[in-house]
Amino acid sequence: MQYKTQGIARSYFTVALLLFALQVVFGLYLGLSYFAAIPQNIVNVFPFATARAFHTNLLVLWLLLGFMGGAYFITPEETKSEIYSTKLAYLQLILLVGTGVTALVGFLFGWNQGRPLLEIPRPLDFVVVIGALIFLFNIGMTMIKARNWTAIQGTLLGGLVFLAVMYLFGMPFYKNAAIDWYYWWWVIHLWVEGAWELITAALMAFVLLKITGVERRVVEKWLYVEMGLFLFTGIAGTGHHYYWLGAPKYWLWVGGIFSSLEPVPIVLMVYDTWNHVKERREQIKNPLTFVYAVGCSIYHLLGAGVWGLIHTLPQINYYTHGSQVTVSHGHLAFFGAYALLNLTLFYFAFPQFERVERYDEKRGRIGFWTMSLSMLGMGLAFGVAGVVQTYLERVLGMDYMATQSYMRLWFQIVFVFGLAFLIGVIITAYDLLKLSPAKEAAA
Ligand code: HEM
Ligand code: HEM
Ligand SMILES: [Fe+2]
Repeated sequence: MQYKTQGIARSYFTVALLLFALQVVFGLYLGLSYFAAIPQNIVNVFPFATARAFHTNLLVLWLLLGFMGGAYFITPEETKSEIYSTKLAYLQLILLVGTGVTALVGFLFGWNQGRPLLEIPRPLDFVVVIGALIFLFNIGMTMIKARNWTAIQGTLLGGLVFLAVMYLFGMPFYKNAAIDWYYWWWVIHLWVEGAWELITAALMAFVLLKITGVERRVVEKWLYVEMGLFLFTGIAGTGHHYYWLGAPKYWLWVGGIFSSLEPVPIVLMVYDTWNHVKERREQIKNPLTFVYAVGCSIYHLLGAGVWGLIHTLPQINYYTHGSQVTVSHGHLAFFGAYALLNLTLFYFAFPQFERVERYDEKRGRIGFWTMSLSMLGMGLAFGVAGVVQTYLERVLGMDYMATQSYMRLWFQIVFVFGLAFLIGVIITAYDLLKLSPAKEAAA
């Protein structure tokens, strides 16, 4: 860590890790609800929908805190200057975590806007906006004052501004449900397949630059290509959510064609990560960061690219829409692209916070493989449940509840993999928070 204010990221990352573990606990409750009868008095206070809101909002919150921490971590090194205001950075963290806690308590009492993933009620939306403005101001001022622009900074700032602006479209409520969902997707889709991809490209480029020693010129060239392609395919790709929404028919074509191209920049990202890692000029002390970086790029391709592609054409989506096939993709994509990206950054940054130059990697590797393999198992089990659902319900026309009974086994399998996943998360969080120096380094 070359700059003192990079330490701000530590608080963001620590909170993010704890929320990650909590998110997964609620995931287990959801999984359980699909095959076991939870006592009615528990369901009365904590119904499935509330648990789902906890699970998904915690996910969004921890990922965003990770991105923000990431921005606080890389901006000083990129701009060669300290963060504009440390106080604002901590104020913003308190504000956002406070909003998160208030929102969760509110959900228990039905204080909820109702739209999945963006359940938090309007008054809290305004607090989020204030938090986001403080954040953008702080990062923006740091970059403007330093006047040391790089492509990585530009992409990062562009992605962050894009992210914040899109949030605004999820705030108003439109009486016409089709229009309401139309804009809901501007937030959800343009986040994960637009803004967040830019942030990912920037953060990953930074980490690769630092751990491989490849030339900045090479990393930046790729960054421009990826950024352009992500925007080009991702924005028009929004159409894959407009097939059955009441939107005009041309979206079937636009969505089908452009979203089918979305895997292209993701493939390029794997290719370029792999090349950087292969042609590294420096010997890295902790190869686990490589494992995470390469793992993230491959899993990103699998969960978002391949799993997205298989149900993105209207001819297929007609049958799979809103089924457990979607849930399978949601899990593999979020984990592969964004959970692993955050964890890559954490593994890059924590040793620097702790000033541990070389740490014992055994525990961390066990954590990586436990999480990655059990999420794969979980995703596949959700996928089979989804295929069963699609076939029985949508092709054969069996009714909803009868179909559910044939899906039960697969939810039991989801639950078992989920337990393993939680263990992986606990091992990983513990490992990061208590990095132990490697034996030879200690000696
Ligand atoms: C990292 C990037 C991505 C993430 C995190 C992600 C996540 C998700 C999630 C959570 C949903 C479910 C939303 C809901 O209905 O509640 C979804 C839906 C969908 N995603 Fe992705 N996705 C990503 C990239 C992609 C890509 C690249 C494609 C296409 C190639 C794609 C195709 C789709 C389609 C077609 C749906 C709608 C499914 C339906 O009709 O039910 N996604 N995605
Ligand atoms: C123990 C591990 C987990 C289990 C058992 C689990 C289970 C579930 C279940 C049952 C749902 C509800 C699906 C529905 O509405 O039909 C859900 C939703 C969701 N979970 Fe998880 N989850 C786990 C971990 C995770 C992780 C680690 C992530 C992200 C990295 C994640 C992301 C999501 C998302 C994005 C949704 C909404 C999906 C959609 O709208 O299609 N979950 N989860
Ligand atoms: Fe999408």
